[in-house]
Amino acid sequence: MTERPLVALIPGDGIGTEVAPAAVACIDAALAKHGQAVRWSPLDWGSDRYLRTGRMMPEDGLAQLARHDAIFLGAVGVPDIPDTETLWGLLIPIRREFQQYVNLRPVRALPGISSPVRGGDELDLMIVRENTEGEYSEIGGRIFRGLPEEAAIQENVFTRKGISRVAAYAARLASTRRKLLTSATKSNGILHTMPFWDEVVAQTAAGYPSVVLEPILIDALAAKLILRPASFDVIVASNLFGDILSDLAGAIAGSIGVAPSANLNPEGDFPSLFEPVHGSAPDIAGQGIANPIGQIWSGAMMLDHLGFTLAAADLTAAFESVVGDGVLTRDLGGTATTVEVRDAVLERLRVS
Ligand code: NAI
Ligand code: MG
Repeated sequence: MTERPLVALIPGDGIGTEVAPAAVACIDAALAKHGQAVRWSPLDWGSDRYLRTGRMMPEDGLAQLARHDAIFLGAVGVPDIPDTETLWGLLIPIRREFQQYVNLRPVRALPGISSPVRGGDELDLMIVRENTEGEYSEIGGRIFRGLPEEAAIQENVFTRKGISRVAAYAARLASTRRKLLTSATKSNGILHTMPFWDEVVAQTAAGYPSVVLEPILIDALAAKLILRPASFDVIVASNLFGDILSDLAGAIAGSIGVAPSANLNPEGDFPSLFEPVHGSAPDIAGQGIANPIGQIWSGAMMLDHLGFTLAAADLTAAFESVVGDGVLTRDLGGTATTVEVRDAVLERLRVS
């Protein structure tokens, strides 16, 4: 990797255009403390471009991104364009073409943020969501549109390669933590894909003898997350189950506004993408009140991924100190604006 990695910056839509610049300022400040920097290439891809040109990104968008070391994304989606266009026109092609098969979502209770759930303040888990196959497939179709016979079929796609590589990542991660790997399944109701998932996850986890594998049916797992949130370490889940569980776990941690994520190509064959879990929040967009912590935390994950471990640790300590001191946006019960939270993080980075 070059000394100054090239990072594609896609703020996207809605609050993405507010939280991404705030996070960029914090990332630059954390790097500057160590005499380091990244080169940003800002890209105006998203719904405005779609309205102008009919495409979320240029035709050669993926080829452009492939020349970068990482991608930093805000959010995409606006009320007047179907989510199928915005998500499948930008985010999902990036995740798939770049084999970002791990969607890593750390969920940790932060100081100063109280959980709506008993025991949620001790939450510290990692959700490893399969990110390229499973329930989110293009295979299927609609027939007899508008007729009483109308029907839709959507196929799930699970492959041995797809399951084993994500399970291996999760098991390896668990081996560096508290060594408990929970696998989200539904093999009692879903007859073909989920027993296959269970089998391949078990075969893969057997290669990590220090790790205890605990398969739990997704419905019981959801209940256990609420009742005993601190009992989890690493959860590996299919695309759909992981998507749902990460919003649930994020809510237990206090707000979706603080939840970060990384879409990783662990082999480094392609750039990985870092983005907050939340969407473009059209209900609060343009008001300057969006919580930038999820985006900043995603930035800390990106710095770690790029090898800037000290800057990542400084950035994490800075935003934790800010929320711990009660500088909170409205979603967390405070009154701070996006820019005020940004400035508080910058202040901590200057004095620390
Ligand atoms: P959302 O995450 O945008 O918003 C859900 C709720 O959480 C809203 O009430 C919003 O105000 C609040 N919220 C979210 N982030 C916040 C933040 N940083 N600070 C304060 N409050 C925050 O999810 P929603 O409403 O379901 O989707 C809105 C649009 O975003 C849709 O077009 C959707 O497809 C898109 N979306 C995009 C994602 C992405 O780019 N990766 C992920 C999720 C949704
Ligand atoms: Mg989601």
